[in-house]
Amino acid sequence: MLRVLITGANGQLGRAVIQILRDKKSYKLYITSRKGKAEEAIWPLDIANETAVYEYIKKVKPDIIINCAAYTAVDLCESESDKAYRINALGPKYLSIAAENIGAKLIHISTDYVYDGQANKPYIEGDCTNPINTYGKTKLAGDMYVQDLCKKSFILRVAWVYGDGKNFVKTMLGLADSGKHLRVVADQFGTPTSALEIARVIAFLMETESYGVYHATCEGSTSWYEFAREIFQQTGKMVSIEAIPTTEYPTPAKRPMYSVLDNKALRERHGYVMKDWKDAFKEYLNDY
Ligand SMILES: NC(=O)c1ccc[n+]([C@@H]2O[C@H](COP(=O)([O-])OP(=O)(O)OC[C@H]3O[C@@H](n4cnc5c(N)ncnc54)[C@H](OP(=O)(O)O)[C@@H]3O)[C@@H](O)[C@H]2O)c1
Repeated sequence: MLRVLITGANGQLGRAVIQILRDKKSYKLYITSRKGKAEEAIWPLDIANETAVYEYIKKVKPDIIINCAAYTAVDLCESESDKAYRINALGPKYLSIAAENIGAKLIHISTDYVYDGQANKPYIEGDCTNPINTYGKTKLAGDMYVQDLCKKSFILRVAWVYGDGKNFVKTMLGLADSGKHLRVVADQFGTPTSALEIARVIAFLMETESYGVYHATCEGSTSWYEFAREIFQQTGKMVSIEAIPTTEYPTPAKRPMYSVLDNKALRERHGYVMKDWKDAFKEYLNDY
């Protein structure tokens, strides 16, 4: 039986990974979150605590580590860059060192925000990174540590994630219920991606030895405005909604204008195709 350690179990992706792996008889799961929850057998593991990471991994000796933990508050990262660096860069560094020491595989999750968004066609895995905000810079630093320090590593770049947690879908549905007129950015493009679809890719790749960087987003692309419209259409909500440019919705962190990812490595190395974003969203609504 393979021993699988999951970090960041309380997050959207952590929950989805547990949902997908829980019933597989071939894995014994070691589930951890920042604070832990003894009554649910979730152990505390702060990935930014170097000693704690080394001690826990030495004790559990996992065959596979799935790092779902990150500091994902993109705007707050601008004013809390030390915290963002500790969690998004040093956390993966410690996990990489610990994984390498025991020969474990490490699956680390990255982001479309490592790109600057100036492209006019979907990014492939070999394209140059050039993050334009602190979150993206700290995540890229994490990717580099993983690549440099852990031979048996997978880096999955995902985007616009929604699952069981705080996300754009829940924000839009909450706003719809408030009856307010909504103004949503229509000139940033990407691909909404369900946490469950990412978890399925993780479950697939962790069985292989095909290490490296992968893009792992749903198929297709859209803008935040069109995504909001799809959310309201599929949930049957009548909402007054207006398309606005990014300039009318200033945020502390700059966002890439175009961060559509081409899952070239998944497709060409494995023939693996993720669901279309609208189909994945339909599945999400059925489940929740
Ligand atoms: N959400 C997106 O749209 C998006 C887009 C691109 C890439 N990603 C990447 O996808 C991955 C999963 O994101 P997600 O959407 O699942 O994020 P999420 O819902 O914010 O979950 C992240 C989890 O990490 C935990 N965490 C934070 N600091 C930690 C630490 N020091 N030690 C242990 N756990 C810690 C958080 O716990 P607390 O709540 O207790 O702090 C939270 O449960 C991340 O690598 C993220 O960078 C996400």
